[in-house]
Amino acid sequence: ADISVITIDGPSGSGKGTVATLLARQLGWNFLDSGALYRILALAAQKHGIALDDEERLAVLAARLDVRFGAEGEGKGAAILLEGDDVSEAIRNESVGAGASRVAALPAIRAALLQRQKDFRQAPGLVADGRDMGTVVFADARLKIFLTASAEERARRRFLQLKAKGDDVNLASLIDEIRARDERDTQRAVAPLKPAGDAVLLDSTALSIEQVLASILSEAASRG
Ligand code: C5P
Repeated sequence: ADISVITIDGPSGSGKGTVATLLARQLGWNFLDSGALYRILALAAQKHGIALDDEERLAVLAARLDVRFGAEGEGKGAAILLEGDDVSEAIRNESVGAGASRVAALPAIRAALLQRQKDFRQAPGLVADGRDMGTVVFADARLKIFLTASAEERARRRFLQLKAKGDDVNLASLIDEIRARDERDTQRAVAPLKPAGDAVLLDSTALSIEQVLASILSEAASRG
């Protein structure tokens, strides 16, 4: 596998999703939103009445998961289809995110989704966004970025996003939720959220998306 990969890992709200999408577009590379896979699985479990701690049935569901990532539309992200239905919006709500974080803690689930993620490594290159892209899935990536920001700043960004959608949200409870999710993601036994030993650490708390993107592009350029 000598197809180049740039991994962008970090907690939710660090801006990695936006940055990874823009980076892939700019380079003309493929893009993997690995969190979407865990979100889709949580949604599929809900749909099929499977409990989020039923590891055995969830693993079967994960192995058979009928998911497709469509092409990017004009000014719109790629459509995500679960069993033919467009779930791009549905997977973004907070309860699906919390469910994703629960199923993601199960070793059999991570194993069942591993090859599916590796299959995204296609020419001319791949930008992969997640929690364990640099540590597990693409441990041989050419460039690994670990993007962080303070919990308060991440909650503030999420707050603005949800408010723009017209959702009724509370900043203090968002900060609590983000802390709880961080705790689960960093403390779990399998593939915990942590920077790879050879990752470049980037703190986006005081940076714009453009600044983060420029800094990753210059790292990439300096590695040829
Ligand atoms: O990135 P996103 O918020 O969409 O991810 C949802 C959840 O999926 C995360 O909270 C995390 O628990 C899990 N996840 C993971 N490994 C990844 C990507 C996401 O465990 N590579």
